[in-house]
Amino acid sequence: MGMLIFSGTGNPDLAAGIAERLNEGMGERELLQFPDGELHVELLDSVRCCDVYIVQSLSPPADRHLLEMLLLADASRRAGAASLTAVIPYLAYARQDRRARGREPVAARLVAELIEAAGFNRVVAVDVHSRAIEGFFGIPLEHLTAVPALAEAIRSNASTDSVIVAPDLGATKLAEHYAKLLGCPVVIVRKARLSGEAVAVSGVVGDVAGRSPIIVDDMISTGATIEAAVRALLEAGCNSEITVVTTHALLVGPAVERLRRLPLSRLVAADTVPLPEEMPLPLERVSVAELLAEAIRRLHRRQSLHTLIARD
Ligand code: R5P
Repeated sequence: MGMLIFSGTGNPDLAAGIAERLNEGMGERELLQFPDGELHVELLDSVRCCDVYIVQSLSPPADRHLLEMLLLADASRRAGAASLTAVIPYLAYARQDRRARGREPVAARLVAELIEAAGFNRVVAVDVHSRAIEGFFGIPLEHLTAVPALAEAIRSNASTDSVIVAPDLGATKLAEHYAKLLGCPVVIVRKARLSGEAVAVSGVVGDVAGRSPIIVDDMISTGATIEAAVRALLEAGCNSEITVVTTHALLVGPAVERLRRLPLSRLVAADTVPLPEEMPLPLERVSVAELLAEAIRRLHRRQSLHTLIARD
């Protein structure tokens, strides 16, 4: 069965890197926006009886990138694709996995249903915010993780005085994963979210005095969480060798300015969303292209993904 890879505009460089590793060209498609704002998609290659992989990061603007992906899927399905896999390096809306207050939607579930309704048979995603999201999909969700590659990238920072810091309770499992790989203890920052752009810290659980923190999070959006964690750790007496590592560096709104003001030695992020080349931050990229290429290779050969899958 032939394979065809199409990319939306969510992270074309990563999609090209994946295709290159698979020795495949990128499927030709036309993606236009009509004057009234509507998107229009047309596939320029035949997909009949092919396994189609649509690589689309739901990076900002997430809504546009989601719709592009759904339209590419619908076009592929109607044109006779044998199977359709959504390869989503960053799955947006995953933080909205429950109704925190009244009269809110469960957006993560709705997005899962939209993906399924577009005709996808399978989803491949990386470090999804909540493991529970898998239950929102009626189709298989292959949940890959960039954590081993990210941990390897910061191994040189992990010494006997290092601590892995979860910047909120929700990041505890993630911190434990890094701690296991790097052999460091875990410290937890107690955070409460006040709004989309503001958080408050009420304390640090664990000893950080004189130690070098490695702060880990699945994503950095506005930088509020990292900023609050760094300030709380400095107040608790950590030393100035501070490392931050994350899978999805969205860096929206005030994020760059916030992080620039902090004494960070390293900021290590995967390339699941496009990262600008020039930035006033000590940013280092770890590519997930090989991880995603290997997942596609194995899916295409009907082989197990077991060793690539994220587990608690
Ligand atoms: C929250 O639970 C997430 O893991 C991140 O900590 C959060 O989304 C980061 O957002 P921001 O950078 O805006 O604080």
